[in-house]
Amino acid sequence: MHTTFLLNGRRVTADTSPTTTLLDWLREHQRLTGTKEGCNEGDCGACSVIVTDEDGARALNACILFMPQLEGKAIRTVEGIAAPDGTLHPVQQAMIKHHGSQCGFCTPGFITTMACAHLNGATDYDTQLAGNLCRCTGYAPIIRAAEDASGAPIPEHMHDATLLQAKKATGEATKAEPPTTPDDLATWMDENPDGTLIAGATDVGLWVTKGFRELGPVAFLNRIPALSGVTVTDEEIRIGAATTLSELHSAIMPHHPSLAELIRRYGSVQVRNAATIGGNIANGSPIGDGSPALIALGAILHLRSVNGLRSLPLEDFFVEYGKQDRAKNEFVESITIPRQGDHLRCYKLSKRFDQDISAVCGCFWIKTVDDVVLAARLAFGGMAGTPKRSPHAEAALIGRKWSETGVAKAMTALAHDFTPLSDMRASASYRMEAAQNMLLRAWLEDQGQVANVLEVGP
Ligand SMILES: Cc1cc2nc3c(=O)[nH]c(=O)nc-3n(C[C@H](O)[C@H](O)[C@H](O)COP(=O)(O)OP(=O)(O)OC[C@H]3O[C@@H](n4cnc5c(N)ncnc54)[C@H](O)[C@@H]3O)c2cc1C
Ligand code: FES
Ligand code: FES
Repeated sequence: MHTTFLLNGRRVTADTSPTTTLLDWLREHQRLTGTKEGCNEGDCGACSVIVTDEDGARALNACILFMPQLEGKAIRTVEGIAAPDGTLHPVQQAMIKHHGSQCGFCTPGFITTMACAHLNGATDYDTQLAGNLCRCTGYAPIIRAAEDASGAPIPEHMHDATLLQAKKATGEATKAEPPTTPDDLATWMDENPDGTLIAGATDVGLWVTKGFRELGPVAFLNRIPALSGVTVTDEEIRIGAATTLSELHSAIMPHHPSLAELIRRYGSVQVRNAATIGGNIANGSPIGDGSPALIALGAILHLRSVNGLRSLPLEDFFVEYGKQDRAKNEFVESITIPRQGDHLRCYKLSKRFDQDISAVCGCFWIKTVDDVVLAARLAFGGMAGTPKRSPHAEAALIGRKWSETGVAKAMTALAHDFTPLSDMRASASYRMEAAQNMLLRAWLEDQGQVANVLEVGP
């Protein structure tokens, strides 16, 4: 398969198998060995590169990025961060000045992620660098370096967006191979019943790098612009299936800030820049973070095939563990949520704050009028084989006073809704207690009590 893109400012065409990762191609075919392989599963950031397209520049993990996902984009690796005359980038100079590197294995990944943040003017370094692990230096010198470099001007050669525009203006832009429209994709799926869709590849990438799976025919959703983006009307918020978690984060912030905060806890910047909401739903994971929040918001899922469009409440999509209500030739086209007041609260409990999968994720949409609960949708991840609502707890709340006593009844009722499992993330009893306490926390926060660990003051 041919993929044409800019590599450190130079136009290249790669001829690879569709599931060759950018990391392997860089290291084995280009001898660009600055980009490191740490975990090979998106967890450590040693393989970070900067990928630019018309939507801007973002850091991505090259180890779980397949070559065809790069069509028409610009890639900058650590070898392309210093200027062509060898002048170091401000973040490189600052890392030397602040002693930000010891063994150096993580350093190329940090440099590219920091250079990307510098390019975007992002200064929330705890968030920007959460996807980069360092085992020896410690993060303080690295953060100090990032802060020190933040005021320096962006070096001219870092403006890949300008280069891409220039290529477009001279007709040098590349044209992606089909499927490039939802109709094309519906036909492709009908003709390839055993084919695999690849969206952000944050799941599928691991099937290849860790599971060594041969995928057979594949279709790349990043080549179908109509599947991406968020549209807000008076009636609804429509989220295209191939919208990344990063795009969703910005778009949802003004409407449901608690969901935006949940998304900020999802993987890392690099993972959110790749992972799509459609992939997060379609993989059917009982511990995915997107579905509980969308179910609590009353989301409708829209599936498309050659037979047309089919819509269903998102909660009905999850039949049982590993089984979803999706025919072989259907794909997730979009998700819509009604425009409604913001009564959403989302809580994610994981062992680490950043870059960790939920042990329990609780998302509650609770509408009260005169302190009486008018409507409640309580959805949980990590409590059953699928993301699931809690009918007993909802019934215990609806029509009753929104009070500590009412919440205590709902917490008891929750025990009738779930029989959670014990696994490496949490025991069954811990999961149940944590889920119950999330309800209490929602009530406490409604009373103005601070329950967010990040907000607790001295
Ligand atoms: C380091 C790391 C951290 C992570 N952290 C989190 C986390 O905190 N929370 C969380 O919920 N998840 C997390 N994940 C899991 C993963 O990011 C998500 O499940 C992700 O949303 C999947 O989306 P994707 O676009 O990458 O899907 P892909 O990997 O491209 O696809 C996943 C599956 O969905 C199918 N698919 C994709 N799009 C469609 C579509 N439109 N229609 C039908 N089928 C489709 C694919 O064929 C495949 O079966 C993490 C993953 C990694 C590697
Ligand atoms: S090698 Fe660890 S994230 Fe890619
Ligand atoms: S400097 Fe050794 S892992 Fe970061």
